[in-house]
Amino acid sequence: MGRKLLTEHINVEGIQTFDVYRKHGGYASVEKALKTMTPEEVVEEVKASGLRGRGGAGFPTGMKWSFLAKPEGKPRYLVCNADESEPGTFKDRYLMEKLPHLLIEGMITSSFALGARTSYIYIRGELLYVLRILEKAIAEAYANGFLGENILGSGYSLDLHVHPGGGAYICGEETALLESLEGKRGNPRNKPPFPAVWGLYGCPTVVNNVESIATVPWIVTNGAAEYAKIGVGRSTGTKLISAGGNINKPGVYEIELGVPVEEFIYSDEYCGGIWKGRDMKAVIAGGSSVPILPKELILKTAAGEDRLMTYESLSDGGFATGTMLGSGGFFVMDDQTCIVRHTWTLARFYHHESCGQCSPCREGTGWMEKVLHRIEYGHGQMHDIDLLVSVAKQIEGNTICPLGDAAAWPVAAAIRHFRDEFEWHVKHPERATAPGAVYNKA
Ligand code: NAI
Ligand code: SF4
Repeated sequence: MGRKLLTEHINVEGIQTFDVYRKHGGYASVEKALKTMTPEEVVEEVKASGLRGRGGAGFPTGMKWSFLAKPEGKPRYLVCNADESEPGTFKDRYLMEKLPHLLIEGMITSSFALGARTSYIYIRGELLYVLRILEKAIAEAYANGFLGENILGSGYSLDLHVHPGGGAYICGEETALLESLEGKRGNPRNKPPFPAVWGLYGCPTVVNNVESIATVPWIVTNGAAEYAKIGVGRSTGTKLISAGGNINKPGVYEIELGVPVEEFIYSDEYCGGIWKGRDMKAVIAGGSSVPILPKELILKTAAGEDRLMTYESLSDGGFATGTMLGSGGFFVMDDQTCIVRHTWTLARFYHHESCGQCSPCREGTGWMEKVLHRIEYGHGQMHDIDLLVSVAKQIEGNTICPLGDAAAWPVAAAIRHFRDEFEWHVKHPERATAPGAVYNKA
């Protein structure tokens, strides 16, 4: 059984309240940081822990913090990205719903480290009930002297606000989020400049994921060295995984990074194997923006080694940057899943969510959706398959924000790994009217 750094007390009755949270060691990091550490020491501690951003990119959190510009006369902001919208990902919602004070504690300690006096939690618009939980917890933190003026008599003051988004997936992209927070349409900005230099209202801003911020209290309370002992290589600590799809035990699991993928899928401690005794066909390991992998490649790397739940081990999926661990949205598909239908569903999603600023994304996502639709519905031709690959290539790397890549990679990867299934759809248009007809390699 792996260690639980974030979720150890998640099932304690009343843990959503300040008093119970405090009784279980809550807000210790605020006391330690504000009373015994300098902001720079907190930044160094987070750097030394090796914590990497839990939103999907895996960028080192401490390094991001140390990039924060400190121009004279300008405020600095910490913005928590709680706009979790990646299909297959639901771990931040779980954390905020069950442990609101953990996020608030992380916001206070992190804001202190960054020198922010006003901080925001930008929460996905559909999660209004979670917003209310957070607002109640924030009010309790103010009432107990952990927010507001002169926290714990330390001279440090912080105001914390929760802001709901309008329900657009693109507002989870950090610069679109900042635009939206400023009251504008959530269109992504060109980067650089990164938010660390030009963020909210043109001021230096750190945007961090919920889970990243919620990990800071443990690191500050227990020390970076203890944290770095957990995990493998540059993948330190624990990670929340949202496990879903055709498995026996869907849910949110806190794992120590380094668990073998096979163990994660088949052991009773985690997913409990594939449902209905079926075989596994494919997995998306880190939310819909990362490429799909067939069974043989999700269990073993191309070099034949056991694949581990780490940023490094999940990184040879044939796409340009980042890691397939992504946001931790681990989606398992059984042998009855139609890969073409699945790919079309994702393409429809990305087309709908494209903000429309760049032509390759605006037009390309629409093309991919249409071509996939005709293949799935029995009107496809063989050359449509290469047409899809060509459109995906023309989107990749040619857009302002990563949504374009995120739309292109799943299509390209599905064709790379399951081309025979696409061809079978073209050759058997009659199956489009036969409900349940699924390609079976055997
Ligand atoms: P990114 O790699 O562009 O940036 C990662 C972070 O590092 C950003 O905060 C960026 O500002 C910062 N950064 C990078 N280089 C920097 C530099 N030189 N100076 C200062 N800061 C720097 O990736 P991005 O766009 O933030 O995230 C993409 C990932 O998000 C995808 O891989 C996907 O897995 C994930 N994602 C997660 C979703 C969710 O609901 N959790 C939704 C959609 C995508
Ligand atoms: Fe908008 Fe797509 Fe361009 Fe991102 S890549 S800015 S979502 S059009």
